Amino acid sequence: MKDRIIVALDTDSPEKALSAVKSLSGEVGMFKVGMELFPRGGPELVRAIRKEGYGVFLDLKFHDIPNTVAGAVRSAADLGVRFATVHASGGRAMLAAAAEAAAGTGTTLLAVTVLTSLDDADLADVGFSFGAKDAVLRLADLAVSSGIGGIVCSAEEVAAVRERLGKGVVLVTPGVRMPGGEAGDQKRVVTPSEATGRGADYIVVGRPITRAKDPAAAAREFAVEMRRGAAGGAA
Ligand code: C5P
Repeated sequence: MKDRIIVALDTDSPEKALSAVKSLSGEVGMFKVGMELFPRGGPELVRAIRKEGYGVFLDLKFHDIPNTVAGAVRSAADLGVRFATVHASGGRAMLAAAAEAAAGTGTTLLAVTVLTSLDDADLADVGFSFGAKDAVLRLADLAVSSGIGGIVCSAEEVAAVRERLGKGVVLVTPGVRMPGGEAGDQKRVVTPSEATGRGADYIVVGRPITRAKDPAAAAREFAVEMRRGAAGGAA
């Protein structure tokens, strides 16, 4: 299970990020580098994390014309990242171009559907005629039918997305907390066992691990809880 824990490195300091990586000594599988950290740490940081023996989830949420996104995906794949994100709302041609660029590389693309910061009114503002729930399923379908390998889905969506898309698709779920853990700014959280019980393949966890007194011990607790959910102990 520890390989299915992705730790979010939400910092603007590559040095702090690398020290968080080193403090986990093999207790997790992957680290997420996003748009705050990547412009500072760049490809060097990604290589350094890989050198420590971990996979990298490059969360830059590509969204542009198909040719440009295909190029971005090729660049990410050349860096050897395990996962990279694209916006499903970029449309079928963009998604298909991204999928084609990733094919045969070790990089699996994950689509972001509707950001959890958007509600139905926000979607109406940008011209969506569907509410958030319907839009998530519609965009997830579009992404997977265009060749994208997985979906980033919130704890609330993951069961419905798994039901709609079946087993072959990788589902990655953020917003996970240990039972009784601090939610911080997350409004809706699930426990690791709930996440895996609902169908998540991977969980993304940031502060509960990176800010723990003993990050390696915290990661081990997450892995135990995930196993309980995957075994049917919670849903
Ligand atoms: O520290 P915490 O565990 O809340 O970090 C969660 C990570 O997952 C952050 O990098 C956050 O940006 C990301 N994420 C999220 N909710 C989403 C999508 C991504 O929390 N819907």
